[in-house]
Amino acid sequence: MPVTSPRTKALATLEKIARMDAETAILDQFDADPWRPARLGLEAAGLWLDLSKQSWSREGFEACLALARACDLEGRRAALFAGEAVNGTEGRAVLHPALRAGPGADFHALGEPVSEEVATVRQAIAAYATAVRSGTEAGATGQPFRAIVHIGIGGSDLGPRLLWDALRPLDPDIDLRFVANIDPRDMAEALTGLDPETTLVVVVSKTFTTQETLANAERARTWLATALPEAGRERHLVGVTAAPDKAAAFGCGHTFGFRDWVGGRYSLWSAVSLSVAVAAGPEVFERLLAGAAEMDAHFLSAPLARNAPVMLGLAQVFNVAGMQRPARTVAPYAHALRRLPAFLQQLEMESNGKGVRRDGSPVDTPTGPVVFGEPGTNGQHAFFQQIHQGPEVVPAEFIIVRHAGDEADDGVGDAPLWSNALAQAQALMLGKSEAVARAELLAAGADTAEADRLAPHKAFPGNRPSTTLVMERLTPEALGALLALYEHKTFVEGVIWDINSFDQWGVELGKVLAQAILKDVKAGKPSAGLDPSTAGLLKRLLG
Ligand code: F6P
Repeated sequence: MPVTSPRTKALATLEKIARMDAETAILDQFDADPWRPARLGLEAAGLWLDLSKQSWSREGFEACLALARACDLEGRRAALFAGEAVNGTEGRAVLHPALRAGPGADFHALGEPVSEEVATVRQAIAAYATAVRSGTEAGATGQPFRAIVHIGIGGSDLGPRLLWDALRPLDPDIDLRFVANIDPRDMAEALTGLDPETTLVVVVSKTFTTQETLANAERARTWLATALPEAGRERHLVGVTAAPDKAAAFGCGHTFGFRDWVGGRYSLWSAVSLSVAVAAGPEVFERLLAGAAEMDAHFLSAPLARNAPVMLGLAQVFNVAGMQRPARTVAPYAHALRRLPAFLQQLEMESNGKGVRRDGSPVDTPTGPVVFGEPGTNGQHAFFQQIHQGPEVVPAEFIIVRHAGDEADDGVGDAPLWSNALAQAQALMLGKSEAVARAELLAAGADTAEADRLAPHKAFPGNRPSTTLVMERLTPEALGALLALYEHKTFVEGVIWDINSFDQWGVELGKVLAQAILKDVKAGKPSAGLDPSTAGLLKRLLG
């Protein structure tokens, strides 16, 4: 008889309960359990989380918790924070919480103490940011830096870019621009209007081998060289990397380091956000870290049933494994959080888009949905039609910032923004029956035939799940807590799927093939053995 593991059993129970929950309207769950809003709502590190509009019944939620326990979530969480080699395929610890810990922290990566080094780099970031902002650290011609071009891609771009959009003053003293794409247009746009004498170029790459980043760094170096004297030019080039020798060899005057136990998509808490610390001020960066540390403390100490990252992760597990829902949309109702969906795409899909378990055997469930989104209310006027009436159920996540537009207040206020988020979540859950749609048509003067014809088009199935997250203001602390919440949620899901959330082998094959194709481009013809489709496209592109 095959041995059934506690995890397999717990997963089977969850699937069984999910089948029953699929037959119950979410709205009816509130009648069945008057404590539902209190049970499924909680505050963590200043964020309010409402998971009561998810499809799970009380039993469904309990089954998710049982699955988490069967997967030893608490043990795996302890191993992460203890700096064990939780990234098994690369033999690395994963210790982004060490980067944001408060004074007195004592983290170890594979047994090596790291907190002292972290504190030293944090001080160096603050000192450099202060020096640039005050003009003490100036360019080759003695002029203070007025602009920064941040070059990086993936985790070396998405986090800092999101931070800057979210935290930048309306009229910043320092003009921070980002370049990620190897398309020369990206760099050309970023450099337009900038003066090399007052521009700092920050090259961010954990490996310092990434094709796009190195190509863009070379472009920027050439741009600086055409306008600046050689002496002091290196002060315009700063490297942020886990490979400091490579940055120095490239010509960076300053280098800020981080270690291999910081994953690219978990690196915004490190010197990877140097450019933001300079442009927004080092105290803003420190406040961001403090907010994330608060979420770390919550994740470590709150019981699983009242633990925000755990509950958010389990809601996704229920949707993916229980309900077979292959997508999730994220709608931040704050213009300043417009880059959040892109950030989450990398965080979640690069972490958990895996086909094998930690032991190399094939996964037994899908490991995560396709994540997509747009800021509210913009998304409502684009893809929300499908979320409301399409045949697939796409769980939605609404993020509300109660005072989103404070700094830009024009007297209209934020209510028109967040009331839309509430309305969308409500519409998804309640829907509208065909009978109601028909009655409304008749009341509006349609004849019976017209009402019969139009009612199916105007009906909404409803019973569509969503999560709502509320924060008071988009402070650096709240943003830190929000992003740490998503990091830990992603980890929780990875534990349930029993995968390694911290490697990304799936991005490697394309990189290797791109190099081979570039060789063919140089040779002017497709190499022998290239598949016919790619060879045909290459010939067309070679002209
Ligand atoms: O190609 C994917 C990736 O390796 C990401 O994981 C990483 O964030 C990004 O590339 C950039 O890598 P690097 O910081 O080494 O340039």
